[in-house]
Amino acid sequence: MRIARSFAELRTFLPAFRTAPLCLVPTMGALHEGHGALVDRGKDEGGLVAVSIFVNPLQFGPTEDLARYPRTPEQDIAFLEKRGADLLFLPRPEEIVPPDATITVNPGPVGTLYCGASRPGHFEGVLTIVLKLFHLLNPDLAIFGEKDRQQLFLIRKMARDLGLSVRVTGHPTVRESDGLALSSRNRYLSPDERTRAALFPHIMNAVGRKWEETPPKTSGEILALRTDLETRLSREGFVVDYVAFADPDTFMEVSLPPPRKVVLLAAVFLGKTRLIDNITLESGISRV
Ligand code: PAJ
Repeated sequence: MRIARSFAELRTFLPAFRTAPLCLVPTMGALHEGHGALVDRGKDEGGLVAVSIFVNPLQFGPTEDLARYPRTPEQDIAFLEKRGADLLFLPRPEEIVPPDATITVNPGPVGTLYCGASRPGHFEGVLTIVLKLFHLLNPDLAIFGEKDRQQLFLIRKMARDLGLSVRVTGHPTVRESDGLALSSRNRYLSPDERTRAALFPHIMNAVGRKWEETPPKTSGEILALRTDLETRLSREGFVVDYVAFADPDTFMEVSLPPPRKVVLLAAVFLGKTRLIDNITLESGISRV
């Protein structure tokens, strides 16, 4: 695996990677099996796999965990070597985000919903860095996890709206055996919180099944399902940030009659740790 730590090194290495389609997996490091699955997926697509690791300050709010975000570069390099990644891009912060940079990507209306409502500026920071990585590496394919479903939607939309040539692919969420979605932030959880955290996807699934069995016909019924989910989560000690039923095509909150496929999204706090998750619901109702 080649490791590029500057734009100049990247420019030197890239021509040798142009012999096959290039697949990019952007990450913020502290790599786990969720990231590993994206690298495997890239390998399965048949090309060369480049991974970037950069803890992007633009996507953290002033009171968020930028300073304590886990950084494990040695383990990450060993992990990627073993996984068969071909290129690792480890940019220096001051090179990839010039201190006087003022130009950013506006994520549009969906950028202010859900995670964007609780984390103002978050998706602007994500899209700005992802566009920069696309420009620097010029990949044929980029792979992102469905774990961050709103992020995946917005990156796809950016590629479409700005006419980028990269193909953006989503990969299913990788979970622990008890159902908790893998996340670099799970290491913040105390042992007791870690045990309790598995109730988060469990409760989302229980309420999701209710939607699938009896899809709501009125806005009152949608509200009742949201309230049910919030109540169950609160009862188990989660502080609910948001829960929402979104249309996967537009990512706006579902309108009536609901589409056959709906994304149930939620974010909660367990102690100081923020967890997000989402599941796709499929009911028999079709939109006509
Ligand atoms: P990060 O949280 O490190 O995630 C990197 C990629 O791994 C994202 O596409 C994310 O959706 C995916 N991922 C994380 N956990 C996963 C899981 N359990 N299963 C499947 N995929 C998972 O997301 C970011 O970094 C940043 O916002 C980034 C896109 C790199 C821009 O800075």
